[in-house]
Amino acid sequence: MRKNEGMSESESSASANRYPAADEWQAVDRYFAEILVEEDAALIAARRSGTDTTMPNAEVAANQGAFLGLLVTIAGAKRVLEFGTLAGYSTIWLARAVGEGGRIVTLELEPQNAEVAEENFLAAGVADRIETIVGPAAETSARLISEGVEPFDFVFIDADKPNNPAYLQAALELTRPGAVIVVDNVVRNGAIVDDSSADPRVHGVRSVADAIAASPDLEATALQTVGEKGWDGLIIARRR
Ligand code: DHB
Ligand code: MG
Repeated sequence: MRKNEGMSESESSASANRYPAADEWQAVDRYFAEILVEEDAALIAARRSGTDTTMPNAEVAANQGAFLGLLVTIAGAKRVLEFGTLAGYSTIWLARAVGEGGRIVTLELEPQNAEVAEENFLAAGVADRIETIVGPAAETSARLISEGVEPFDFVFIDADKPNNPAYLQAALELTRPGAVIVVDNVVRNGAIVDDSSADPRVHGVRSVADAIAASPDLEATALQTVGEKGWDGLIIARRR
């Protein structure tokens, strides 16, 4: 059926042309989170402790954390690299997904944030499989490259957005073929398509999208998300 063919005006507007308000997105997030996504006490505490970091409320939503965990499980990833720890909320989802034999390396600029995160890792029972490295991630990832660390299977890029292209380059040097690379916050309330945006974070996202598109080593797509985190999205890429 062609778009809207055979539909009454009211049917087509209900199914295709209705743009719900943010409070409805949030209600839908809450509905699915309640029936599908279990946040235990440690995850709830980790989310709350985000307010003790330099970027309150920047952590992923519960359903997004579960999505990252599922991607790790589906990919069979055992070694995960994360750019941007904050309070470690997404880190806990990733760490639980890799299981007991898995390993997470998470890179965090601010010592105070790393301290908050490490407490959360202990409470979540995953501290022994997570290494938190403090410092500018461009430098700490370069150190991992020069040390020749074992390649990673999965990378979550979720730190300062202007450095996204540098983090992608590091991720390409630190992963094996077949690895999955996810980039957070790529829609930014639609600012990604606002050509007049002077926001360096938007430019960082565009540059990384261009770099992914130009890389013969990567296949990728992007998904918009709405919900508790407003209107945003993820790029999901895979190394060939
Ligand atoms: C920003 C960064 C994040 O990782 C996030 O989830 C939301 C916002 C930011 O830099 O604005
Ligand atoms: Mg983010």
